[in-house]
Amino acid sequence: MKVIKKILQMQKVADEARCAGRKVGFVPTMGYLHKGHLSLIRQARQLSELVVVSIFVNPTQFGPHEDYQNYPRDLSRDAKLLRQVGCDILFLPSVEEMYPQGYCSYVDVENLTQLLCGASRPSHFRGVATVVTKLFNIVKPHLAVFGQKDAQQAFVIRRMVTDLNQDLEIVVAPTIREPDGLAMSSRNEYLTPQERADALVLYQALKWAHEQIVEGQRNIEYLVQGMTKMIQNKKTAQIDYISFVDTEKLHSLKRLEGEVLIALAVKFGRARLIDNLLIKV
Ligand code: PAJ
Repeated sequence: MKVIKKILQMQKVADEARCAGRKVGFVPTMGYLHKGHLSLIRQARQLSELVVVSIFVNPTQFGPHEDYQNYPRDLSRDAKLLRQVGCDILFLPSVEEMYPQGYCSYVDVENLTQLLCGASRPSHFRGVATVVTKLFNIVKPHLAVFGQKDAQQAFVIRRMVTDLNQDLEIVVAPTIREPDGLAMSSRNEYLTPQERADALVLYQALKWAHEQIVEGQRNIEYLVQGMTKMIQNKKTAQIDYISFVDTEKLHSLKRLEGEVLIALAVKFGRARLIDNLLIKV
């Protein structure tokens, strides 16, 4: 595995690969890798000939009181995992080179970014869309793989790629969970044993709602109330949102029909965790 730290060098290697007719697959990450990340990289490995993974904890997607400084980092462990999973190039840009003095260009995907997580993290998706666009311009991939775990992020990226005619394919891969159902996340690291036990309720609540729907329940208010009760029963949980939205505009649904995204965000101590289920009604 080659490690590249400079933007120009990454662009040169990407150009060479494209000229040689090699399909470039890309997985952007913020590191502290887990099996969720690795599954995206395996998917990229299957779909392309040169696999590039970036690790960059992107300051512009963190709010002023969020966890940028404390975001977990372990580069040597990450590099070992990446070698095992068959990554060809690890791209590690610096904050100084990504956002030099005088930097002032941002990508704003409207509407989709003010809802759900955007409501409590107002500039988060602007930071994500900006850094992902920059990374696409540097790595020049034919395809990029994102996780369904961050459903809204995947929607925003798809919309951005369509709207701005960014010339690549976006692949969305399924959420990988711990054996007990908790969605894998670098932020699970923050959980105390009690919070970790309580956080199980997220997937349980999603599954409960899904089962209710399968059994014929169509009352969204009933489902949200049931999920709210389940989650509020856990002492360490603080609900940010529980939403049933459509998969085009991410608007709250009045009726349960077609493709439905059940999405939630809940705080457990320092950790704000998100999870979702995409279902067909
Ligand atoms: P990060 O949280 O490191 O996630 C990198 C990718 O891994 C994202 O596409 C995310 O959806 C995916 N992922 C995380 N947990 C997953 C899980 N349990 N199962 C499957 N996929 C999972 O998302 C980001 O970084 C950043 O916002 C980034 C896109 C890199 C821009 O800075």
